[in-house]
Amino acid sequence: MGTTALVGDRQWVPLVTGGEVRRLDLDYAATAPCATQVRDAVDEILPWYGSVHRGDGFPSAVCTELQEACRESVRAFTGARPDDTVIFTRNTTDSLNLLAHALPEDCEVFGFATEHHANLLPWERRTVHRLPVPESPEHALVLLDAALAAAVRGAGGGRGSRLVTLAGASNVTGEVWPVAELARVARRYGARIAVDAAQLAPHRPLDMTGWDVDYVAFSGHKLYAPYGAGVLVGRPDWLDAAPPYLVGGGATRHVDLPTVAWAPSPQRHEAGSPNFLGNYALATACEVLHAPLRSGLVEEEERLTALLERELARIPGLCLHRMWDGRHPKVGTVTFSVRGREPGLLSAALSAEYGIAVRTGRFCAHPLVKHLLGEGHDSGSAVRASIGCGITEQDIIDFAWALARLVERGPAWSYRAEGARFVPDPDPRPMPQLRHGAQVRLRAAERREEAPRAPVGAGCGG
Ligand SMILES: Cc1ncc(COP(=O)(O)O)c(C=O)c1O
Repeated sequence: MGTTALVGDRQWVPLVTGGEVRRLDLDYAATAPCATQVRDAVDEILPWYGSVHRGDGFPSAVCTELQEACRESVRAFTGARPDDTVIFTRNTTDSLNLLAHALPEDCEVFGFATEHHANLLPWERRTVHRLPVPESPEHALVLLDAALAAAVRGAGGGRGSRLVTLAGASNVTGEVWPVAELARVARRYGARIAVDAAQLAPHRPLDMTGWDVDYVAFSGHKLYAPYGAGVLVGRPDWLDAAPPYLVGGGATRHVDLPTVAWAPSPQRHEAGSPNFLGNYALATACEVLHAPLRSGLVEEEERLTALLERELARIPGLCLHRMWDGRHPKVGTVTFSVRGREPGLLSAALSAEYGIAVRTGRFCAHPLVKHLLGEGHDSGSAVRASIGCGITEQDIIDFAWALARLVERGPAWSYRAEGARFVPDPDPRPMPQLRHGAQVRLRAAERREEAPRAPVGAGCGG
């Protein structure tokens, strides 16, 4: 899917059963592979690497100018307003914590119980109106309207500020939230709206201005730019009024203790030397994806997502988990469970025996997964497969075939439980020969020694 080439795509990986296979990565929702254009851009700039806003050498001049240009690439990618601030962070979690830190004291927060923990937990210091899982996108509008109306009628005569915060797309089901419609509801009550776009940004064009959204946050590593940067984009006023998120060099205008004059955002919240390479990688990814997201990538991904759901639905005992019915748009993420099969074992065997990477667990969205699985569910966890650039129809067919075989026959190897995960036991797969491979192997061996041993026999899932 898409024309974006990826680093390590189709790389050979070892199998526990012997031999090697070309790997298939279906875990884009956790972290996406690096786009070669991003890697190449970083390699190209490395010889020019220098301190940002801190040096007089030529590399410093280059990097300082580029760091500011990166903000413009992010601004264009998000459809931000000219006066929105673009603050570089470590990731979405960092961005949302920064925003939570910057909320006015009187701010009440509104959000659904469906959120990733990164958009669930940072707000807990405030009054939070936690809305239940809606039955449909239309129901989400009704729930939000009612909650905001009650707050406006309530104590304090509706004075004070309000923030609605929601994911653009669910990291569990891939379902896309009606962001613009929810923003309209928020506006009716004078509330601001923040969008956790960690899962939306790699799959849909963002349009902060058109949607009338106040803040957007996302991570480089989910956007084919795994160099440790994220971003928070949005209205500067609350951010400029808040104390710096971190204090230190770069966040100040002038220090004459005890007096400190803090810089406005973005520098106010970017103390310390920036992760220039990460920011540059993220901005490059924004540039690389900008056009494809507006010309065909979305449709192609929708087609492949529909194929993925159809293929999985044919597997006996497999249940696809969704919040809403199938009419509603979704990005290429599906979560499922298979009757009588341990999700962690399926996921471990897919990797160890077929070279296919998916994820199992509760995806840092425990309340939503609990809701989707229901109380009586065996393990409380599920399997998630997620696609993105580089994935083809054949990949989806191969995945469905491997899963169906595994469901029918059970694993061909032994696995043991390690906490909530399963690992091959023994695991004969050689580590790749890396410069620091010896240490990595040693640590892995030590972990195995320490791990509680609860062997699960071959075929136990069958
Ligand atoms: C919807 C959503 N929000 C936030 C996050 C947190 O992202 P990060 O781990 O990059 O901070 C994730 C990560 O999976 C996510 O899916």
